[in-house]
Amino acid sequence: MIRDEQIDAAVAALRRGGLVAFPTETVYGLGCDATNNDALARLYATKRRPTSHPVIVHLPDTGDLVEWGRDLDDAAVTLARECWPGPLTLVVRRSARVPDAVTGGRDTVGLRVPDQPVANALLRAFGAGIAAPSANRFGRVSPTTADDVRADLGSEVDVVLDGGPCTVGVESTIVDTTTSPAAILRVGAISEGRIAELLGGRVDVRTAGEIAAPGTLSRHYSPCARVILVDAGAVGAHAAGRLAAGDRVGLLAPEPVPRDLPAGLVVLDPPMDAAQYAHVLYARLRAADRLGLDVLLVVPPAAEGIGAAVADRLQRASTP
Ligand code: TXA
Ligand code: MG
Repeated sequence: MIRDEQIDAAVAALRRGGLVAFPTETVYGLGCDATNNDALARLYATKRRPTSHPVIVHLPDTGDLVEWGRDLDDAAVTLARECWPGPLTLVVRRSARVPDAVTGGRDTVGLRVPDQPVANALLRAFGAGIAAPSANRFGRVSPTTADDVRADLGSEVDVVLDGGPCTVGVESTIVDTTTSPAAILRVGAISEGRIAELLGGRVDVRTAGEIAAPGTLSRHYSPCARVILVDAGAVGAHAAGRLAAGDRVGLLAPEPVPRDLPAGLVVLDPPMDAAQYAHVLYARLRAADRLGLDVLLVVPPAAEGIGAAVADRLQRASTP
């Protein structure tokens, strides 16, 4: 449990222009005052992230949408009403209060009201927007525990709020509501089917390339171990080949895990279903590095519902 004093200390750090890592339902964020340019500069430097990549502004309440966005399309209003608080980021035209440093100079801003008790307590106590990318170094695996944050960013963060493991485990769905029809820029816990349903069937998907949502690079979310995607039926032969070549080889596969696997293959604790796969995905990628694996063979889940988000992250993690 988080105590009020910890929230107070975090708010004080934000007001001083400091950096506060906090849990959300998706992944841990590295937050700062979204209107403080010096704090934003420190945020980008700490992440080692190019300043042209926009960050998401987290808001205390759905009603704040009209303060941080302008000329809202119906899609933005509908999705905010139906999905916030929750794992959905809305790209809208930005209001005058959003500084260039948040958006990389774009005329649009990504906004989200998260659904996590510590995040919501922090946002309510701060009472304004908190800019927060995922609390990992640029290009690496996103953190889903406070220990992950400390391991990655350590002393460069002023306060780390520990809210336990993130429930969802993969980043929010991003929808650009400034185009007609609206477009999904990043797949996440809120499925394409659900977005389409809420928007009367009208939604595009623009998840390829890095132009739509700068930072959704084709290679991303990568552990040090080489990630290779394989079909369940091909795991045994593939593993045997790699082991024979002298590699330290691991396997991440959902239940039912293929049988008759070669000795020496390190089988990581398998997820039971797509939701659990999302929940443990980044922990397993981190485990692969902790175990010193050279190669991680991965059987992705079926790309339906949140399984699509897991498959997307695995595709990017496996891009050489
Ligand atoms: O679940 C999440 O969204 C987490 C938690 C902390 O909220 N945050 C997160 O932030 O994943 P980050 O910075 O790792 O990813 C933000 C993505 C980037 O790909 C960025 O390009 C996109 O959001 N984005 C932000 N503002 C945008 C804008 N105005 N237009 C297009 N894409 C935008
Ligand atoms: Mg990120």
